[in-house]
Amino acid sequence: MNMLKGKRVLLGVTGGIAAYRAAELARMLTREGAEVRVAMTAAACEFVQPLTFQALCGHPVMLSLFDQQEESQIGHIAAARWPDCIVVAPATANFIGKAAGGIADDLLTTIVMASRKPVVLAPAMNWAMWQNEFVQANLARLTALERFQIVPPEEGEMACGETGKGRLATLDFIIDRVVYASREEKDLHDETVLITSGPTYEDIDPVRFVANRSSGKMGFALAREARARGGRVILIAGPNSLIPPCDVQVVPVRTAAQMLEAVRKHAPEANVIIKAAAVADFRPARTADRKIHKDEGDFSLPLVKTVDILSELGQSKRHNQFLVGFAAETHQVMTYGSQKLREKRLDLIVVNDVSEEGAGFEVDTNVVKVIDNAGHIEQWPMMPKAKVAVMLFDLIQKHRANQKGPDKGRDGHSVRPSHRPGGGRRRRSKRGGGGGGGGGGESRGGEGRANGGNPEGQPA
Ligand code: PMT
Repeated sequence: MNMLKGKRVLLGVTGGIAAYRAAELARMLTREGAEVRVAMTAAACEFVQPLTFQALCGHPVMLSLFDQQEESQIGHIAAARWPDCIVVAPATANFIGKAAGGIADDLLTTIVMASRKPVVLAPAMNWAMWQNEFVQANLARLTALERFQIVPPEEGEMACGETGKGRLATLDFIIDRVVYASREEKDLHDETVLITSGPTYEDIDPVRFVANRSSGKMGFALAREARARGGRVILIAGPNSLIPPCDVQVVPVRTAAQMLEAVRKHAPEANVIIKAAAVADFRPARTADRKIHKDEGDFSLPLVKTVDILSELGQSKRHNQFLVGFAAETHQVMTYGSQKLREKRLDLIVVNDVSEEGAGFEVDTNVVKVIDNAGHIEQWPMMPKAKVAVMLFDLIQKHRANQKGPDKGRDGHSVRPSHRPGGGRRRRSKRGGGGGGGGGGESRGGEGRANGGNPEGQPA
């Protein structure tokens, strides 16, 4: 939500049956905060009325290179300069061929040629056309240029009744790519970010398991944001029903033991690790091979502790690795959060009171406090998890920049108090991003220092 706030996106629609899905895409782009203008080819207008897009985006649709009235409103050169990003969805074989061949014979191809901004192409066509060697050669030609990014089509049944690869990509993937393309600042470029998300399922028997309420939304939002910043992202995900972020390596796991194994495998390559997963603290001592029947009598379930993955990461942390934990609490939240920060040797801990409305499990929002290892506390008001992710990465990058300073060690004393949530990056206002400065300000004193005292005035 609001991942495109302040961004200008030009949506090009070309003539394929998937043109009707471009209307939904326009709506989603707008909902993400983008200002959207639409340019349609003549063939696209055979499938969808320009009025649809005008109603959705609030601007007249650009249709013709030679329309006197349109040219007087926004000429094709002005249209090429206007956006932060161009997305063409659906992109037909014909359009791709023209773009790759340097042909500009209508408004949309002229805009794309005259622009220097990133172009996201979401092809959609019959599977045989998709496989055609000229189409593939044209795509290869375009992707060789950094400016062009392709969101490949998906497998499935097509409008013509045939089945194969050629359906327009999932719209969320296209949005992810537009977010990525329109971010100027890629401050995680060349960095590997490891994120864990979701619950773990600990099996009792083949039909029952012990789990928790985590949906994975918080971890997925973090992965999406890390990718938008140019990071190579590995997302170790417990069971979930979410659409994975585009261009993120997802490692699906079920149990705490599987998550441990996956984390052990990928942690050594990670520069930043964020453990947003709600890992089971206990698992059944034994998993029955067969369904346990109720007529077998009373049943009690002996549990044993799982390995604390985050503690293990804290023990083995490299000097240039940044480690962030989450704490899901229902009472004495700051006391427990501070304790976990200290005992698990973290750089930051994100504390959420999961009994609070709009916070924690399942919901799209969160209410968090972030404690660093020098005891400073940031307190953010309720906001979408996507925005929490933006602000958390702003904070992480600020801390990492401080740690890299010439005279600064990694003992935590080098970390200066921040002045406002999300205020650590330049070009904040230009990037928009929905994260900067919108928080509730740093809490100094009111909550007390995290490592000392007793922030809640209760017995710890
Ligand atoms: O997934 P959502 O529905 O969006 O919900 C988000 C969330 C509530 C799950 C998330 O915001 C959150 O709080 N995640 C951490 C949940 C949790 O397990 O907290 P904890 O206080 O029990 O654990 C503290 C930390 O230790 C966590 O980073 C956890 O990943 C880690 N841990 C815990 C147990 C264990 N065996 N291994 C671990 O690594």
